[in-house]
Order: sequence, then structure tokens, then C-alpha cells
Amino acid sequence: MVKAPLHVPFLVGLASVALFLGNVKAWASDEADHAARLALPLPANTDEGKSLYKANCFRCHGSNGFGDGDLGIPTLAGQRFRYLVLQLADFSDDRRDSTAMHRVIAHASLQRPQAWVDVATYLTELPLPRETQIGTGARTAQGRRIFREQCVACHGQDARGDDQDFIPSLRNQHYSYLVNQIVRIAEGHRHNVDKELVRFLQGFGGPDIDGVADYLSRLRGSGNPGPHSRQ
Ligand code: HEC
Ligand code: HEC
Repeated sequence: MVKAPLHVPFLVGLASVALFLGNVKAWASDEADHAARLALPLPANTDEGKSLYKANCFRCHGSNGFGDGDLGIPTLAGQRFRYLVLQLADFSDDRRDSTAMHRVIAHASLQRPQAWVDVATYLTELPLPRETQIGTGARTAQGRRIFREQCVACHGQDARGDDQDFIPSLRNQHYSYLVNQIVRIAEGHRHNVDKELVRFLQGFGGPDIDGVADYLSRLRGSGNPGPHSRQ
């Protein structure tokens, strides 16, 4: 697999958000991950994606792609197509740590960019979960404030993410998975994440993380524009 890190430039400071977003888009489109970019235009076979999913993913992510909050397994239904493809490329290239996912993706049938596109397309066609694991509700107001002030510039007002920069939807997701990933990114377990973003997330304490994850875990809606969409 060709190694070419995806950089998402990052600037702390609300005053710079507009300029910052302009920069993110310009940089990300030049430097974005090579393997994922090669995979993205491939025509998808949803039936093949469904069989791959049933054979390899079902047992952990569930028949409906809803994952399991208690086991730290994310919802995949409703996640953005481009982001899913990039994550599969990253797991396959050890740019994102996860023993469980490395074992799965090492399977010959999943070492092909075509397989990532097929399975990701299948996932975009699944119905969204009605419920996910949520937190206690004690800090959702604090979490909403943090999200609006510090995260919307990239993840969007309603947390739907952004295709152009491979930014994930944070909706339909389990509370404990969101908490874990903020910590995992801050600890450097996702090697494709810009260092500035890592440092930024290191600045958040336990109560902030609890609040923002709890707030997000209650949001619903697809990251993708519509069924069968790969945009
Ligand atoms: C043995 C259990 C297991 C199996 C089987 C499994 N996964 Fe996962 N998956 C996980 C866990 C656990 C994580 C969270 C990893 C982490 O902590 O970063 C994950 C994370 C992911 C993510 C990242 C989601 C995000 O929001 O960033 C994607 C995409 C994914 N899996 C896709 C798949 C696909 C596609 C398959 C089948 C080809 C599959 N997984 C099979 C356990 C599994
Ligand atoms: C500079 C843009 C940017 C900002 C600001 C930002 N993020 Fe992100 N975030 C990203 C990108 C890009 C990723 C995907 C990283 C990857 O590809 O591994 C991500 C990933 C995540 C994930 C993992 C999602 C998953 O499915 O695994 C969580 C959780 C998250 N961000 C929460 C937050 C929160 C909370 C804030 C505000 C405190 C925030 N982010 C601010 C760009 C940003």
C-alpha cells in the first residue's frame, strides 16, 4: 500500500475559523490519502459488499451496522462513505491502531481497495439506528457549548461531517465509543490525524469529554446525502 499521510491542518482559535476552513480544504485535497483516493472512484458492487459484511463484520458491528456501545464497537450505519473507505485503508496500513480491526482487515478478501468501496457502499444503504448508548445527561449543556464553539468548524453545525476532508459524522454514535476515540486521538493512536488536532484534543479534561460525547450520542441523521449516495 502506498503511504501518503492525510493531513488536516488545524488552527486553534475561533476568530480564524473562516480562514482556517479555507486552508483545510486546499491542503487536504492535495495531500489526502493516496490509497483511499485511488479506491474512491471504483464502481461499487453492493451485493459483494453485503456478503463481505456478513462474512467478516456482522459478528462485531451487528447485522444492522449499529455496533455495540458496551463493547466499544462503533455504529457504521449512517457514517460517511469517504470516511469509511479512508478508515479501512488506515487500518490496513497500520495508520490507525486496533487489534480487532487489524485482524479482520488482514484477511485476503479485505486487502483490496475494491472490497473497502463495496462494503462502505453497502453500509451507506443501511437504515440509521433509532437509539445508541448515551451518557448520564449531566453535562449535555456543557457538551453542546463545547461542540458549538470548538468542533463545528470541521464536523459541521449538526455534526454531519464533511466529505471533502474525510471528516466523520459524529451522529448515531455510541457514547463510550466517542469518549474512547477522543482519548485515542489525543494519545496518538490514529497516526493519520494532524498533530495540531491531537494537541488540541489533549487539552480537554474528563468532564468536557463526557459532556461533548453525551451531547453527540443523542444526535441522529445520516452523514450521507441520501440512500445509495456515495457523495
Ligand atoms: C472482532 C470485532 C470486529 C470485527 C469482526 C470488525 N470490526 Fe470494525 N471495529 C471493531 C472495533 C473494536 C472498532 C473500534 C476500533 C478503535 O477503537 O479504534 C472498529 C472500528 C471500525 C471502523 C471505524 C469506525 C469509525 O467511526 O471510525 C470501521 C470503518 C470498521 N470497524 C469497519 C469494519 C468492517 C467493514 C468490518 C468487516 C470487514 C469490521 N469492521 C469488522 C471491531 C470489529
Ligand atoms: C480541524 C478539524 C477538526 C476539529 C476542529 C475537530 N475535529 Fe474531530 N475529527 C477531525 C478529523 C479529520 C477526524 C478523522 C480522523 C481520522 O481520519 O482518523 C476526526 C475524528 C473525530 C472523532 C472520531 C470519530 C470516529 O467515528 O471514530 C471524534 C469522536 C471527534 N473527531 C470529535 C471531535 C470533537 C468533540 C471536537 C471538538 C472538541 C473535534 N472533533 C474537533 C477533524 C476535526
